[in-house]
Amino acid sequence: MSARSARITGWGSYAPAAVLTNADLERIVDTNDEWIVTRTGIRERRVAAAHETTASMAAVAGARAIAVAGLDPDDVDLILVATLTPDYWMPSTAALVKEAIGNTRAAAMDVAAACSGFVYAYATATAYVTSGLARHVLVIGAELLTRFLDYTDRSTCILFGDGAGAVVVSASDEPSRPHGIELTTEPQGAYMIWLPAGGSKSPSSSETVARGEHFIRMEGKETYRFATRTLASSALAAIERAGLHPDDIDLVIPHQANIRIIEAVAKGLGFPMERIFVNLDRYGNTSAASVPLALAEAVDSGRVKVGDRIVFVAFGAGFTSGAVAMEWTADPAAGARAAAVDPEAIHVRLPVDWDSVDPIPSQLAAVLASPGPVDVPLDDVVPGEPAPAHAHAGAT
Ligand code: ACO
Repeated sequence: MSARSARITGWGSYAPAAVLTNADLERIVDTNDEWIVTRTGIRERRVAAAHETTASMAAVAGARAIAVAGLDPDDVDLILVATLTPDYWMPSTAALVKEAIGNTRAAAMDVAAACSGFVYAYATATAYVTSGLARHVLVIGAELLTRFLDYTDRSTCILFGDGAGAVVVSASDEPSRPHGIELTTEPQGAYMIWLPAGGSKSPSSSETVARGEHFIRMEGKETYRFATRTLASSALAAIERAGLHPDDIDLVIPHQANIRIIEAVAKGLGFPMERIFVNLDRYGNTSAASVPLALAEAVDSGRVKVGDRIVFVAFGAGFTSGAVAMEWTADPAAGARAAAVDPEAIHVRLPVDWDSVDPIPSQLAAVLASPGPVDVPLDDVVPGEPAPAHAHAGAT
C-alpha cells in the first residue's frame, strides 16, 4: 500500500470591506505616508466592521476553501484555526467556525503560534492526514488585530490589519510529490512581541487596562533582526527536506510583515523579487492570516500553476518560525468556485442573553465614520486657503 500523502485541495480568503489608509492613520498618530511606505511598504489595511469577528471572517474564508475543494462542509473532519486574536479565551474560535459553516462532525481546535500560526496549523493538518487520523482538514489563519492595538503607539498601530485565509488539506493516494516542513521556536524572544494582560499571569482588571496592557507590544528592531535571520534559513531547511534546490522554487509566499524584511529574505535566498509574492501594501501585517491570504491571492491571480514548486514561510511572536516547500497540485481554475459562498449568509451564533460592548476602538471609529480631516484646529486654516486634502476610509 502506498503511503498516504497530503495535499492542498482548496483555498479561500476574506478581507473586510473598510480600508484604513496611511493618510487616515496620520489623523490618529504622529506619522506620515512617506515614513510608513519607505519603512514598511504598507499603504493600506482592512478593518473589520462592528458585526465581524475573527470567527466570522475565518468562517467565510473556510467556507470558500471547502467550496474550492469541491467538498461539503461535513466532509471536513478536523478544523484548525490559527489566531492570536480569538473571539474569546474559550470556546475556541475553531468551535465557532464549525457551527457557522454548518459542519456537524469535525473535531475543532485553535493553534497559537502568532504570525507563524498558519504554518504550524498546516503542519498539524499534514500530520493528521498522513497518519490516517483525518481525511480532510480545514486550516484557517484569521486575525482581527485592529482591536488589539494601542492607537497612541505609532510604532505598532500602523503595521497591522484584519483578514482571514484558509486551505483544505486532503488525503491522496496519488504518488507523493516533493514536500518539506521546518518549524522552530526560540523562547529567548518570548517578550519581544507580547500582549501582557488577560492571561493567568496578569488577569484583566481596571488596573491592567489603565496600563494599556491589553494591547500588543513589540520590540520592532529585535523582531526585525530575528525575522531577517530566520526566514531564509527556515525556507532553505524546508526546501532541503522536500529534496529540492532553491533554483527549483518558482514562488516564495512570505509572511507579509515588512517589505524590507521580505527584500532581505529574497537576498538571503538569492532570489529576484519577481519570485516573491507581496500583497502587504494592501493588507498590512495580518499575522496568522497573512500567508493563507497571500497564498489564495497568488493562486487566484495566476501566479501559481500545477507543478510549480512553492514555499510559504513565516515568523512571529514566540519567537516562532515555520516554512513549507511543496509542489502545487490543485487546478487554480477551481478558485472560481469560491464565488458561490455569500459572506452575508454565514453567521456566528451569539448567546441570546448577552451582547458585547462596541468593539471598535474610538480612534478608529472616528476616522472610519468621517471622511476628510477631523480635529483640524481652526487656527491652522488660513482664510481663503483650501482645506488640506485627506484620503478617507471607506468600503470597497
Ligand atoms: N511614523 C513616523 N515615525 C515613526 C513611526 C511612525 N509610524 N514609528 C516609529 N517612528 C520613528 C521612531 O520614533 C524613530 O524616531 P527617532 O529616531 O527620533 O527615535 C524613527 O522613526 C526610527 O524608528 P525605528 O524603530 O528605528 O524604525 P525601524 O526602521 O526599525 O522601523 C518597524 C520600525 C517598522 C516597526 C520595524 O522595526 C519592523 O518592521 N520590525 C518588525 C516588526 C514585525 O515585523 N513584526 C511582525 C511580527 S508581529 C506578530 O507576530 C504579532
